[in-house]
Amino acid sequence: MSQELGLLEDLPADYRAALAGQNLVPLWPSLRALLPPGQPRPATRVTHWSYEAIRPLLLRAGELTPIEKAERRVLVLANPGHGLEKMQASAAIYLGMQLLLPGEWAPAHRHTPSAVRLIVEGEGAYTTVDGQKCEMRRGDLVLTPTGLWHEHGHDGDAPVIWLDVLDLPLVYYLEASYHVDGPRQQVRPSTATRYARAGLVPTRVFEREGAPYPMLRYPWADTRAALEQLARETGPDETLLLRYVNPETGADAQNILGYAALMLRPGQTVTLPARSPAAVFHLIEGAALVRSGEQENALVTADTCCIPGFTAVTLRNGSARNSAFFFVADETPLHRKLGVYEERPESRESWTHP
Ligand SMILES: [Fe+2]
Repeated sequence: MSQELGLLEDLPADYRAALAGQNLVPLWPSLRALLPPGQPRPATRVTHWSYEAIRPLLLRAGELTPIEKAERRVLVLANPGHGLEKMQASAAIYLGMQLLLPGEWAPAHRHTPSAVRLIVEGEGAYTTVDGQKCEMRRGDLVLTPTGLWHEHGHDGDAPVIWLDVLDLPLVYYLEASYHVDGPRQQVRPSTATRYARAGLVPTRVFEREGAPYPMLRYPWADTRAALEQLARETGPDETLLLRYVNPETGADAQNILGYAALMLRPGQTVTLPARSPAAVFHLIEGAALVRSGEQENALVTADTCCIPGFTAVTLRNGSARNSAFFFVADETPLHRKLGVYEERPESRESWTHP
């Protein structure tokens, strides 16, 4: 098969003009870009966002822009490979750092993109989702799935900051993105502890709960304890990875993006093979190196790093004493549903450094 295909410039100007006049485009000059040989050429770049750099800029936004003028006071973690104006971390992932100051209120709305919040700093904030008041403590994961009402409040006395992860770039690309404003929600009795024990689900006369999002808050204290329990029960080289799932079905917690928590023991190195989905690694606790290809990023607590699809990644905890804990967001559910999910285990070898 020929690698060299005809260029647009090879065609006479009058022919190109005639095509454009009929809203027609020749495929062959763009064919290799659309279907590159062997593997995609992602626009997404390996990008590291330092929390130390974000934090003062976000706090300054709190001085510059009142919440009423922002509605959601967010600095978007934009991947330069897509262009900052696109405000996307990868093809399907949006990331934002959001600040809520004591006493502030981010009013109720709902929208087609799904979101999660991973709490980074501060005490006293909460998100009310579908009438459920969800506490926001550091490391907690709070879901605000597609179509559910949500609003944020803050009864504490210091700034609260969290990481927003949304499937906004994909839903926007589908021309399906919109929001609806609503009145303050009535808070309903909490069902937060309904799934507190793995393997047990509540039933009403043997009928299973039909809600698509039965669990809205995943407390970090529980996730961390589960990772440490897993570490005690497995060999020293095992990858310690827990996915956040719907406790009724075992399926991914949300439809498009997937979420997980990963623990590195002191001194542990984990190499993840190249997979088709892009992934985001946010360090909840500790320090770690994130290496992909020639690039190595040293993450400290609350830093965030984006890795494009089809890229192997090595995570290393250099500490001899402390574990490191990552929150991972990726496009796995989307890729699996579309049938384009791939893992290339052969890539693992070349990324295993001494
Ligand atoms: Fe929202």
